[in-house]
Amino acid sequence: MSAEVSSFWMDGDLRAASDAVAPLLAHGLHYGTGVFEGIRVYDTERGPAVFRLDAHMQRLDRGAAVLAMTVDSAAMAAAIGPLLRKNRLTDAYVRPVAFYSGGGLGLDLGALTATQAVAVLPWTSHLGDAAADRGVAVRVSPYRRISSRALPPLKLTGMYANACVAKLEAVRAGFEEALFVDAEGFVVEATGENVFLVRNGQVVAVDHEDALPGITRDTVAELAGAERRKVHLDELYDADEVFLTGTSAEVAPVTRLDGRGRLGVGPVTRELRQLYQDVVHGRSPEAEPWLTYV
Ligand SMILES: Cc1ncc(COP(=O)(O)O)c(C=O)c1O
Repeated sequence: MSAEVSSFWMDGDLRAASDAVAPLLAHGLHYGTGVFEGIRVYDTERGPAVFRLDAHMQRLDRGAAVLAMTVDSAAMAAAIGPLLRKNRLTDAYVRPVAFYSGGGLGLDLGALTATQAVAVLPWTSHLGDAAADRGVAVRVSPYRRISSRALPPLKLTGMYANACVAKLEAVRAGFEEALFVDAEGFVVEATGENVFLVRNGQVVAVDHEDALPGITRDTVAELAGAERRKVHLDELYDADEVFLTGTSAEVAPVTRLDGRGRLGVGPVTRELRQLYQDVVHGRSPEAEPWLTYV
């Protein structure tokens, strides 16, 4: 975790970062039996505001339910304000995480106990700030995204080994992000973002049963009046514009898709990027229900 952050919240208390530690035999460390969220706090004219806090916490609850884990997501949400003040942050990335930490290393989850924590970090984008302006180079991954029939597409910690190896392969090949497609060639998602395309002015939010139900995807689809449906890779190759959405990446244009170079950032992507910024910064009145001031 970042050295700039002095305090985390863990199991009900604000703790010095150096005291917020997990045991070596934590079940979640060995088997990925945890669940997390990635949330943004934006500095607005009315003070720091968490974007779509309820939606993030509901998704965390759904992931915890898959693991039969009891979490107090309301307490985690309530920790965000005090944590921001303690760490003197107004613009931040918030990382709630809950993981099995005690009760042994057996694979039966019944008797385990969980640890809950919240970290706030100074803001940095997963794709780098430059991605927004210059666009992201994306490579179709030789790896498959974990099927929803293997694990529901939620933010379970163990699932992210899949994302990490796909991203590693893409970066080694000279790209910045990997795109998962399924065995039939349908687009699933990127390693930490959902996918959109624009064709003849129509905006399409890529839907796939193996993709995380992204909160940014939902937001942008609503703002754009986008159609939500499955999309084949061939259709993505033919699109006028392609962009990625995620809490961290926000709205990030794709300017290279495999060997196909693209010129510049498309006008629809540019407009939606701006609209999204207005919404998350509370400059758009219809965004108010999505903002929780802390
Ligand atoms: C695998 C994956 N897909 C998509 C997303 C985008 O989801 P959201 O917009 O809710 O951040 C994320 C990030 O949370 C992710 O990890």
